[in-house]
Amino acid sequence: MDYQLRNRTALITGSTSGIGFATAELLAREGANVIVNGRTKESVAEATEALKNRVPSAAITGIVADFNDREAAAALIAEIDAVDILVNNVGVFTSQSFAETPDVDWYKLFEVNVMSGVRLSRAFLPKMLAQGWGRIIFISSECAQLVPEDLIAYSMTKAAMLSIARGLAQTTKGTSVTVNSVMPGSTLSAGAERFLKEQAVKQNKSEEAVASDFFKNVRTTSLLGRFTSTEEIAQAVVYLASPISSATNGSVLKADGGSVPGIM
Ligand SMILES: NC(=O)c1ccc[n+]([C@@H]2O[C@H](COP(=O)([O-])OP(=O)(O)OC[C@H]3O[C@@H](n4cnc5c(N)ncnc54)[C@H](OP(=O)(O)O)[C@@H]3O)[C@@H](O)[C@H]2O)c1
Repeated sequence: MDYQLRNRTALITGSTSGIGFATAELLAREGANVIVNGRTKESVAEATEALKNRVPSAAITGIVADFNDREAAAALIAEIDAVDILVNNVGVFTSQSFAETPDVDWYKLFEVNVMSGVRLSRAFLPKMLAQGWGRIIFISSECAQLVPEDLIAYSMTKAAMLSIARGLAQTTKGTSVTVNSVMPGSTLSAGAERFLKEQAVKQNKSEEAVASDFFKNVRTTSLLGRFTSTEEIAQAVVYLASPISSATNGSVLKADGGSVPGIM
């Protein structure tokens, strides 16, 4: 299938590893000009190099921006004039009890997970509307709906993204710009792999056994019963980034392995 993405410029926040990196790679394979982002010069250079090696024909550039810093989005916007595709992927989480989550952690999660996407969308959406085509994709999470008790603050940010995406979509009425969200389930990014390794040592079990227990005892609603790969999530993102998804606007595409119950 031709995703018709050749020569379109895509910025993916938090894309030196995980879902962001897999999305950057798949977009690059489809011929998009990809802008990779991370917090340090080193990680951005490494990811840019890795992508160039994997997809030698692609145009890959990198930009350093740490969205913990309120000024980071403004600095990035000053450097990048416009993009055709914006993937608001950057997201951090901390597993904590509600009682032990201080104000500062709520604000930090909100700043990185929500305000990065707000600021970038505020800058790039008007340009997409002016040029007559564009795609904004917010990477939410199954946690927006499942709301695990140890991830209430994180889940709040992921639910907020869904509202923002829907609201922005409504401002695109009658245009060829769309704003959608992807809702990944538990995904085997580097962070999840680290967690499995640590738990395997702690519990004296294999990583496979720890993963299987997670779906037996924790993510019990999953129909897939395994972690999704970052590539599986990237496929959903690339579909929404493509002109072929033109009838989908203001939607949430679940790539959660069926963990969020219900028909919608
Ligand atoms: N993994 C899952 O199970 C899962 C499930 C549902 C939803 N999600 C969502 O999917 C998105 C990606 O998750 P992931 O698991 O793939 O992430 P990840 O593997 O932890 O990737 C982290 C990426 O984000 C960058 N990053 C971290 N903090 C940053 C900051 N303050 N400013 C700029 N970049 C930053 C890192 O870059 P540097 O290290 O180079 O700075 C790296 O590229 C997140 O929004 C997450 O909430 C993940």
